[in-house]
Amino acid sequence: MEYEIETNDLTRKFGNFTAVDKLTLHVAKGELFGFLGPNGAGKTTTIRMLTTLLSPTSGSASVGGFDLLKEPSAVRSIIGVVPQQFALFDELTPLENLRYIGELYGMSDDEIAEHSRTLLEVAELWDKRDVQAGGFSGGMKQRLSVAAGLLHEPKILFMDEPTTGLDPHSRIALRELTRRLNKENGITVVYTTHDMDEADKLCDRIAIMNNAKLIEVGTPAELKKKIQKKGGKEPSLEDVFIALTSK
Ligand SMILES: Nc1ncnc2c1ncn2[C@@H]1O[C@H](COP(=O)(O)OP(=O)(O)O)[C@@H](O)[C@H]1O
Ligand SMILES: [Mg+2]
Repeated sequence: MEYEIETNDLTRKFGNFTAVDKLTLHVAKGELFGFLGPNGAGKTTTIRMLTTLLSPTSGSASVGGFDLLKEPSAVRSIIGVVPQQFALFDELTPLENLRYIGELYGMSDDEIAEHSRTLLEVAELWDKRDVQAGGFSGGMKQRLSVAAGLLHEPKILFMDEPTTGLDPHSRIALRELTRRLNKENGITVVYTTHDMDEADKLCDRIAIMNNAKLIEVGTPAELKKKIQKKGGKEPSLEDVFIALTSK
């Protein structure tokens, strides 16, 4: 089995407070892997460590075969990030935002133009390529963030609660886009959400986090097998979460 991401006792403290506590897990190449947990569980802190934005207090990890601590720039070159908050320029159009990012990555003008067109078409924003992003809906901004995260053709895409705050239609569109990128383009996706139903529908495997700790990892079906429901009814992931966190 070839692992795209491996963490060993990955830990982050803020003063005396532990935000991520000895996280050990493996993500396979091509997986759509979810971190599921309530607000404050440690999902964003985990993503920030794996994307080199925050240094671990202890433990180690490798991302795309590179050591997170020893080869952070190699890690950065093969990952894309869709942050929890919109991090692009409202005053710029989609094409201008993507050009700015492409230049940061040292891409050629031709490469930037070609990738921008493909990605804006996939993100259904090509029609809006010359419109300032400030006036976009939440869903459009998130799709632009996804395009921005993919511009340099990363092997791994990290998405932090990308559907939070979106209306139902935009949520579905973004999930579809994520699924397509994963299944058709073979991009390994790490996706955080607090929405159990979303994790259930979207992810190949899920790591359940609560209070900085990894509670359980498995496919949605495996996680549901962990608990027995009265009357033999199939449990929801919410039932699983409640059962596993109230032990
Ligand atoms: N920079 C920071 N300084 C202090 N505490 C932080 C910082 N970042 C996150 N935390 C705390 O760590 C915990 C986990 O936060 P976070 O990783 O953002 O959780 P999640 O993304 O699952 O909602 C929270 O209690 C949060 O308040
Ligand atoms: Mg978060």
